[in-house]
Formats: sequence, structure tokens, C-alpha cells
Amino acid sequence: MIRTQLETPRLHLRLFTRDDVQVMYTLCSDPEVIKYADTAVKDVHEAMQRLEQGPLADYQKYGYGRFAVELKSTGKVIGFCGIKYLPEIELPEVGFRYLKEYWGRGIGTEAALACVEFARSDLKIKKLVALIMPENKASINLSLKLGMVRGPLIRIYDVDAYQYEMML
Ligand SMILES: CC(C)(COP(=O)(O)OP(=O)(O)OC[C@H]1O[C@@H](n2cnc3c(N)ncnc32)[C@H](O)[C@@H]1OP(=O)(O)O)[C@@H](O)C(=O)NCCC(=O)NCCS
Repeated sequence: MIRTQLETPRLHLRLFTRDDVQVMYTLCSDPEVIKYADTAVKDVHEAMQRLEQGPLADYQKYGYGRFAVELKSTGKVIGFCGIKYLPEIELPEVGFRYLKEYWGRGIGTEAALACVEFARSDLKIKKLVALIMPENKASINLSLKLGMVRGPLIRIYDVDAYQYEMML
């Protein structure tokens, strides 16, 4: 069975809905947040397209995609984390992105560890990657904490990124 929500001590991970468009807008437009992650959306309409063509489409197509991450103490969505199948490299990727006021509190590690376990137990994934730009120290450190090792530098989405990888 593929779960549609996960729980950790501080977090509730659940599927995105269209009601999450405002936080998706911030996550896809704040220049510091997307510096090593993405191209910026210019308005809420484009953020809705990202939501529909990203996680919502992935749930339909693959049965899983990035989870919205809620802080249990407030019920607020503070970012996303989860497994996304990347057809470009024919591998699933663990990805993570949070509002900057929540960085550096161990939240990224807590959610990602739960997603790695979900990939292993629910999705039966054997090889998991994380594509990370060489300058993205926080993301590299998080991936190392998950047990990943650095693989090849690849060109994808018009940027150079290291393929961090682990066997599950
Ligand atoms: C990358 C990101 C998800 C990390 O989330 P986080 O909640 O801050 O991560 P954690 O607090 O669990 O920290 C994980 C490890 O990363 C390292 N780290 C965190 N912030 C760091 C920073 N600014 N510089 C260097 N290392 C950092 C630490 O080694 C830390 O482990 P430690 O505290 O045991 O030493 C977060 O910074 C983020 O959302 N960045 C913007 C989006 C992004 O770049 N996503 C990834 C694209 S590949």
C-alpha cells in the first residue's frame, strides 16, 4: 500500500491540494529559497500551474509525489519533501524545500528520513537519488546525513548538478 500521509515527531506530511497554492507561491518565488532549486514563478497563477503540473500530476501518474510538510504545532505548511519520479533520468529523487524561517532546525532531515523509509517500504524503490547544485551546501549535507554518496555531475534542466545516490 502507498501511504498518502506520513508522521514524524514534529511533522505531518500529506498530499498537496490546490488550497496550498499560496505557500507554493512563496516556495517558488522567494529568491533565497529557489537560489539552487528552481526558476521563479511570477504570480499565484503560475504557482497553481507548478502545483498542478508537479505534485498533483505526479500523484495521478505515479501514485506518489512530493508531500506538503505541515508543522504539527501550528498546522501550517512550511515546505515540501518527498519522492518524485524523474523520467529524464528514469530514477526517483528525494527532494526538499522549506520557507527560510524554518531552516537549520533539523526539519529537513526529519522529513527526508521519513520519505526515504517511505520509498523503501511503500514504493519498493531500490535506488534513490538527489540532484544538487555543487554550491548548495545545506542540501549536500542533508543528503550525506541520509546516507547518500556523491555520484556523477550531470546536466539537467539547464544546470549542472551532482547526482547524490543511495541503494535502499
Ligand atoms: C536544503 C534544506 C531543505 C535543508 O533543510 P533544513 O531543515 O535547513 O536542514 P536540517 O536543519 O535538517 O540540516 C541538515 C544538515 O544540513 C547542514 N546545513 C543546514 N543548513 C546549512 C547551511 N546553511 N550551510 C551548510 N550546511 C547546512 C547541516 O550539516 C545540517 O546537519 P547538522 O545540523 O546535523 O549539522 C533547506 O535549506 C532549504 O529549503 N533550502 C532551499 C531549497 C533547496 O535548496 N532545496 C534543495 C534543492 S536540491
